[in-house]
Amino acid sequence: MEEFCKMLPKVELHAHINGSVSESTIEKLVATKQKLDHQFSFKKGSTATLKECFEKFRLIHQLTDNVDAVYQVTYDVIQEFCDDNVRYLELRSTPREVTETGMTKELYVDAVLRAIRDCEAENLDIEVKLLLAIDRRNGVQVGQDTVKLAQKFRESHPDLVVGIDLSGDPSVGDGRDFIPVFKEAKDFGLKLALHLCEVPALQETMDLLCLPPDRIGHGTCLHPEAGGTQEFVDTVLTHKTPLELCLTSNLIGQTVPDLDNHQFKFWYEKQHPCIICTDDKGVFSTSLTEEYQLAAVTFDLSPNDLWRLSLDSMNYAFCEEHLKEKLREKWKAAKPGMEKQFNLKL
Ligand code: IMP
Ligand code: ZN
Repeated sequence: MEEFCKMLPKVELHAHINGSVSESTIEKLVATKQKLDHQFSFKKGSTATLKECFEKFRLIHQLTDNVDAVYQVTYDVIQEFCDDNVRYLELRSTPREVTETGMTKELYVDAVLRAIRDCEAENLDIEVKLLLAIDRRNGVQVGQDTVKLAQKFRESHPDLVVGIDLSGDPSVGDGRDFIPVFKEAKDFGLKLALHLCEVPALQETMDLLCLPPDRIGHGTCLHPEAGGTQEFVDTVLTHKTPLELCLTSNLIGQTVPDLDNHQFKFWYEKQHPCIICTDDKGVFSTSLTEEYQLAAVTFDLSPNDLWRLSLDSMNYAFCEEHLKEKLREKWKAAKPGMEKQFNLKL
């Protein structure tokens, strides 16, 4: 199964740039700093509190406090996803400014976009898009500024900047405060991928679901058995809002008790659009191949099921239809070789 999952052309729709940084990139970045000796990722099989997960992002941010590091991380992350046979990748990242190094939010986004363009120029077999992330800890004004920034960069890079993400510590703030900001983003043609209900959040969820977002990140606690409500479930089903599901991330962050109780099962059985994603492949020491494998083992999925999951994920990408069509050709091209190698009919 491992070999099958590796060869499978894949779609990654939920990857935070700084959380995706690999150990080898960390080593390069640490070499540029004096005396930074931390553990930047969780070992396989470990667990943590959400607070501890967010502490890792803080440590990584100390390394990516300048435009060269932001460029390097983005560039390496794209190469690594490409090596893992990810053919379409949507990255998301929170624009950050660091006065001491002269990095402004504009320069941050510019560094990310330059890395994407440079990978494009190398003709890598991967299409990359970008979502700008709003960290809910930073409040509405910063959210507003992020949408303005996205609008600006969408004008200069209409083919790359596709949407807005809401992320950050789910226990902080009220997502409803951002609704006017999301509406403005939507009016401007930006898509919305919102982290919703990672932890039970009865107050904000309904209003955010009714926007509706174009995709939901995690949605861990939407269903009644996980602290949500039937009304949440019905709303998601009615809008057919796709869910970005990240098994290892939820397991390490302990937002699910174990994988058998992961929300993937609940939604997949309802034939609801589910997308397998990594979230933070660096921090959670995983890859999209491993996530597919884990889903296969946990939920008894066949190679055909995995093939469908990866191909269907293309439907929920925030890119133009003609690009989706072009990318679907990759699955067509890979099919005969995979059928032969694994002796299957896909
Ligand atoms: P960055 O936006 O590229 O700096 O990636 C790291 C950031 O992504 C973190 O500081 C969080 O705001 C966000 N993030 C990563 N994983 C999660 C998650 O599971 N839930 C909520 N936010 C997350
Ligand atoms: Zn996430």
